[in-house]
Amino acid sequence: MARVQVVEVSARDGLQNDPAFLTTEQKVELIQRTIAAGIDRAEVASFANPKAVPQMADAEAVLEGLGTIEGFSSIGLVLNTKGFHRAAATNVTEINIVVVSTDTFSQRNQRMDTIDALAVLDEVVPLAKAAGIAPTVTLAASFGCPFEGEVPLERTQMLVERAMNYGVVEIALADTIGVAVPADVKRRFESAAQITGGQVPLRAHFHNTRNTGYANALAAVEAGVSVLDASLAGIGGCPFAPKATGNIATEDLVYALDRSGIETGIDLPKLLEASEWLEGVLDRRTPSLVSKAGLFPPAELTTS
Ligand code: COA
Ligand code: ZN
Repeated sequence: MARVQVVEVSARDGLQNDPAFLTTEQKVELIQRTIAAGIDRAEVASFANPKAVPQMADAEAVLEGLGTIEGFSSIGLVLNTKGFHRAAATNVTEINIVVVSTDTFSQRNQRMDTIDALAVLDEVVPLAKAAGIAPTVTLAASFGCPFEGEVPLERTQMLVERAMNYGVVEIALADTIGVAVPADVKRRFESAAQITGGQVPLRAHFHNTRNTGYANALAAVEAGVSVLDASLAGIGGCPFAPKATGNIATEDLVYALDRSGIETGIDLPKLLEASEWLEGVLDRRTPSLVSKAGLFPPAELTTS
């Protein structure tokens, strides 16, 4: 049976722009609840400048609160060398360095152009490896930019090649603003896989801004990707991208994968409980749908 690893990003991408400021304890509980449902890898914090992203100001405290959990890999987002040093002082398992594909968005997001963001990789990847922390990269806005529009395939190819040469252990193509469609997903991932020659695993990150997120996720799997990001309840969005909305919802993705015969190791009923809990904490209706519609077949038809 095919297997996909779902990386839970609600505690970072989900909450970084959320009007509800969760307490550190609530963030830790969120992560623990998803781990209890079978998640074995999650973005748990961002070592951004707390003045730029106040929701992530307690990154160190979240990692401290989580402690070390057997079989679970925690990921901290890193945007500059200072952020790396903060991450390295915690017990984080992995760092995910963001490189935005276009200069305008990169400037808005992290006050440096794309080439300067690549220079962060150059500096930080060897430091991370020396510290026993796995360095991964997310190529943000790989499928389109809110300020520059189309992102040429050649730009993605150049960035994948550069990232690979810097020695990252995984490369994610992210649709930060939710404009991708399955044909482009297939085209870009197949092209990326040709460049890496299977040496560096690829990860896919989708937002459902234009309702193509789940089709894109399944297209990525068909293109050979076996690691997908998703956010519990479908919350999320980038503070520096106008109109960007939530990530694909973990429970809706797991439902689609389960019923497609693709194993995730995640317990969907437990995930739905976690989603319901999160909706209570946020005190508003969230975008995910399986959490509202329920399982299929309904539990009463399967327990006889
Ligand atoms: N963590 C904490 N403080 C940081 C920091 C970090 N990662 N990076 C910089 N700072 C501090 C500096 O120490 C300096 O402090 P001082 O004024 O007391 O001396 C101040 O911030 C300015 O430093 P500078 O080097 O000019 O960095 P910056 O403010 O341009 O920060 C980023 C660069 C990338 C860290 C910042 O723009 C950022 O966090 N952006 C958010 C991007 C993001 O999270 N996007 C969504 C997810 S992709
Ligand atoms: Zn995102």
